[in-house]
Amino acid sequence: MIEHRLIEKMLKIARMELDIIKKDRKIDAVFIDTIVDFIRTYADRTHHGKEEDILFKELEKKKLNSIDKKIMKELIEEHITARKAVKELVDATKKYTDGDLKSIDTIIEKLSFLISFYPVHIYKEDKVFFPDTEKYFIEAELDKMLNDFWEFDKKMIHEKYNKLYESLLKKYT
Ligand SMILES: [Fe+2]
Ligand SMILES: [Fe+2]
Repeated sequence: MIEHRLIEKMLKIARMELDIIKKDRKIDAVFIDTIVDFIRTYADRTHHGKEEDILFKELEKKKLNSIDKKIMKELIEEHITARKAVKELVDATKKYTDGDLKSIDTIIEKLSFLISFYPVHIYKEDKVFFPDTEKYFIEAELDKMLNDFWEFDKKMIHEKYNKLYESLLKKYT
C-alpha cells in the first residue's frame, strides 16, 4: 500500500505532462523514458513482482472463496494489460523519435490509459482484495511475507543495473 502512494503521486506528474503534450503536440522523449522506467522498474518489477511472486503465490496455497479467486485472476490479468500498454507506449515513442510524428496520438492514448488504469487497479487492491484476503493468513505468515518482501526489494537495485549493463553491452557486441 505504501508503494501504491508513490505510484499515485508519479501518475499525477504524468497527467501534468500529458496535458502539456496535448497542448503542444510535442513529445519530450526523455520524460517518456523516465516514466516508462518508473513504471517498469518500480510499479511493475518491484511492486507487481512482490504481489505476483510472493502474495499471490502464497494465496494460491490457500482455499480461496470464489470471489477472492476471481479478483486475484482479474488483478493478474490487469498486470498483463499494463505491461502491454507500456510496451505499446515504448514502441510509439521510438516511432515518434524516428520521425513518425503521427504516433503522438498512440503515445497520448497509451499514457492516458496508464494514468486512468492504475488508480482503479490500486483501489481494487487497497479497498477490496488486500483487506479481504488477510483472513487467510495467521500472524506468523503475514510476518514471513513482510520479510520476503524486504528480501525481494534488496535484489531490485542490483537487477536493474545488471540489466542496464546488459542492454548497453548489446550496443558494442
Ligand atoms: Fe497489482
Ligand atoms: Fe498493487
